[in-house]
Amino acid sequence: MERENLLSKREYERKIAATRDERMAWWRAARFGMFIHYGLYALEGRNEWLQALENYDGAEYEKLAEDFHVKPGACREWCALAVRAGMKYAVLTTRHHDGFSLWDSKVNPYNSMNYGSKRDIVREFVDTCREFGLKIGFYSSLMDWKHIDAPAAGRDSEARRRFTDYITELNRELCTNYGKIDILWYDVPAPMESWEGWNSLEMNQIVRSLQPHIIINNRSRLEEDFGTPEGSIKPMDRDWEACMTFNGISWGYVDSAQAAPHSYNATRIIKMLQSVTRSNGNLLLNIGPAPDGSVPEEAYEPLTTVGQWLLENGDAIYGGSVKKNPLHRPNGVCDAHYDGNVLYVYNQIWPNNGKLVLGGLFAKLKSAWVVKDKTSLDFEQDAHKIVLKNLPPKSPDSLAGMAVLALEFEKQIPYERSTLYPQLHGGRVFEGDN
Ligand code: GLC
Repeated sequence: MERENLLSKREYERKIAATRDERMAWWRAARFGMFIHYGLYALEGRNEWLQALENYDGAEYEKLAEDFHVKPGACREWCALAVRAGMKYAVLTTRHHDGFSLWDSKVNPYNSMNYGSKRDIVREFVDTCREFGLKIGFYSSLMDWKHIDAPAAGRDSEARRRFTDYITELNRELCTNYGKIDILWYDVPAPMESWEGWNSLEMNQIVRSLQPHIIINNRSRLEEDFGTPEGSIKPMDRDWEACMTFNGISWGYVDSAQAAPHSYNATRIIKMLQSVTRSNGNLLLNIGPAPDGSVPEEAYEPLTTVGQWLLENGDAIYGGSVKKNPLHRPNGVCDAHYDGNVLYVYNQIWPNNGKLVLGGLFAKLKSAWVVKDKTSLDFEQDAHKIVLKNLPPKSPDSLAGMAVLALEFEKQIPYERSTLYPQLHGGRVFEGDN
């Protein structure tokens, strides 16, 4: 990029902030995406960090590339499952820390076009996402265990320049050769500890000049568009996306015959979705495809169920202007969140007496219904509680035991003014809340 066109950090951040709402609108409504960790490490089935964790000899590791045979249609399997699961976007590890590119790179010959099945996996991924209507995300590692200058880049400015130029050129290829890309998902900015060290300001301006609508995560040591809590659902005071493994143990494929059974079931994933939704976040849930690119078996059934559940209950999850949760019960009987004046209540312990009692909601209830089939519910309300009546004997959600009820109030109850247990607050009903 020409020096004179380069914005200062302040100018740059002001400029991207001005377009953020428009660029992020689809992402905020989407809520749920698929992360795909696929690369040479899949062949070993012991986690994507194995080259480093096992001090795997570099030349030995590279031999895996010869055996990297991606079955035809692998990307179709990922995308079909993502759509079936109700996900709206997918993010692929175009190049993980091992430095192996999954595309026809001119700057990195260590790539999937030159080895194994000799295919441009990124091209196939992009084409398939478009066909399936998924938005397209590229994960791009900053750390690189292969590049000769990477180890010295933290202390030697010449090595650093060569290394950051290399990373920039990789990203330039990704942002030039595949049409419109929706997300750039950086990872692990090591060894440099500053955005200046990574030359991120220039690199990201180049990316944005090539992809004006792109959204970028916060891992190039610049804040950019969204935060990325990893491995736990930790809300942030900005746009954020929790990235989670499918099994709590690995991003890359693990051979399930060799591992403790850890995989998430549908109910657990739905709970994750509810947790991100109530704090206006997204969930990027990972699968680590098998060596030939097949969807790992552990993911198929739970994600299919989640997708069925979302078809019935998606009103509570997607889009909307969701506010904080006023009804979080530590014992998990039910959590809830608002969308406008509608409170979505998730029930996991269906009452065995035909009525569901909700204390501490001090606004006038106008109507209540089961989200799944819009059956309206009878109710009574007094100052302290709402009693939903004539409920079916069993949870209306036979998929995951996670029924969603909608309660439309005259107004939203401000979070700080709602209380779960009035008795703990001396039985006080807040003035004017009725
Ligand atoms: C990490 C790991 C990595 C994984 C990523 C996903 O920082 O290094 O293997 O790709 O998180 O967020």
